[in-house]
Amino acid sequence: MIKTLLGVVMFGLAFCANAQDVTRPAIHFTPQKGWMNDPNGMVFYKGEYHLFFQHTPFSTIPDFTRMHWGHAVSKDLVHWTELESALKPDDLGAIFSGSAVFDVNNTSGFGKDGIAPLVAIFTHHNSVGEKAGVDNFQNQSIAYSLDNGRTWTKYEGNPVVKNPGIRDFRDPKVFWYEEGKKWIMTLATLDHITFYSSPNLKDWKEESKFGKNAGAHGGVWECPDLISFDKKGKKVWVLIVNLNPGGPNGGSGTQYFTGGFDGSVFTADHTETKWLDFGPDEYAGVTWDNTGNRKLLIGWMNNWKYAFTVPATTWRGTMTVPRELQLKKLENDYRLSCAPAVEVINHFKNKGKWKKVNKVNTSSEPIATNTGAFQVELKLSAASSFEIKLFNKKGEEILAGFDKTSNTFYIDRAKSGRTAYLNEFAKRYTAPRFALGNAVDVTLIIDNTSIEMFADGGLTAMTSVCFPTEPFNQVAVSQNGRITNSSQWRVNNAD
Ligand code: FRU
Repeated sequence: MIKTLLGVVMFGLAFCANAQDVTRPAIHFTPQKGWMNDPNGMVFYKGEYHLFFQHTPFSTIPDFTRMHWGHAVSKDLVHWTELESALKPDDLGAIFSGSAVFDVNNTSGFGKDGIAPLVAIFTHHNSVGEKAGVDNFQNQSIAYSLDNGRTWTKYEGNPVVKNPGIRDFRDPKVFWYEEGKKWIMTLATLDHITFYSSPNLKDWKEESKFGKNAGAHGGVWECPDLISFDKKGKKVWVLIVNLNPGGPNGGSGTQYFTGGFDGSVFTADHTETKWLDFGPDEYAGVTWDNTGNRKLLIGWMNNWKYAFTVPATTWRGTMTVPRELQLKKLENDYRLSCAPAVEVINHFKNKGKWKKVNKVNTSSEPIATNTGAFQVELKLSAASSFEIKLFNKKGEEILAGFDKTSNTFYIDRAKSGRTAYLNEFAKRYTAPRFALGNAVDVTLIIDNTSIEMFADGGLTAMTSVCFPTEPFNQVAVSQNGRITNSSQWRVNNAD
């Protein structure tokens, strides 16, 4: 019975992490040194995925008075090269979160000698103003690059959107709205979103507001994003809004609304919250600009609840794997699915050879080396309770599973190693199942200090960091409480 219900379980090992620092993930972006939070300014340009990020390069504790935009590039969304800081604090303040666009028609006029500019739109956070108790210390500014994002020049007319007196006024996300031939800025303004439009990225006009009476409001709205999907020739719009605190499992979280946008007003077709990721550690997730119909998102793998205190060496902060978003219709309801980008999956597939492992559940032979990332896939033709246990020989473990009775997925890191001093860290996190069919599939990506679970093609996603004192290098699967037959396991060792 178990044999027939259990389809395929596979896992593969990616390349090894830095031997000096076993906590550094192998395939997730981390800064070489210092503190990192939100991903910023993601734009695809000339074969490179640019990833900027909130960075305090000189400290593993964030300094909000001196926040920089760090910078990394990747050609394949798996291997990242860190470059010089792109934007540094100046007289107008620290550089908070924002976005970047490829201004292909040179609407901004920053282009030169036939080169169209990349333009970054970000929040200037003036901590002097903040200390003085004024409410207009966050303003929106721009900068441009004509050399593939390597160097940036700030606009002398900054700021381009002045604060009307709202304490939390930040994180501009901009896209080109082709139907109206104008740029749209989605800005987080305390407890709602304000939309602005511009012909040239310099002159902005307020269009509308959304959200005071919609969605979750357990904290401040931050890092929004407005994207669209073609559904049978009709555009369906999705407004992503990050929220802290008030997330689905406490602390930081990413919610979204589906609806329509007419170039001025966003109208949601629901008021209740939809969550993109139910784990505790996906935050500030937004999408890349200039990727055509693909919607690629990356988030910061942390939670402001305990972000300052997670174990660190000379660096602190990790991104999620890049994920592809798709809009799926379930009866009358639209839901975003969020699954690892195909480049990430292919990395595991291409890296090694599949081989069978016997008696994996009882054997002391490790099924992964002590460093590196690996992937577990589980497919069941009929949904029944199951649990995937990652563990090490010290008895530390993290569980990812599905409980059929409550129809919920879970990640349980109660016994995952270093947990004691982290606020509300050691516990089980749950997520609803949305898929309507009977078959269940789960992909796990484990990379030294994190586990990402994508169930039902990403309709339920959960992200969790964990800090075992030595890496989890063994895995066991049980179904309805019984250990499954080990002969159904296949291992993909890259080395
Ligand atoms: C979200 C956030 C943003 C802000 C940035 C500061 O995590 O609070 O709203 O721009 O971090 O680093």
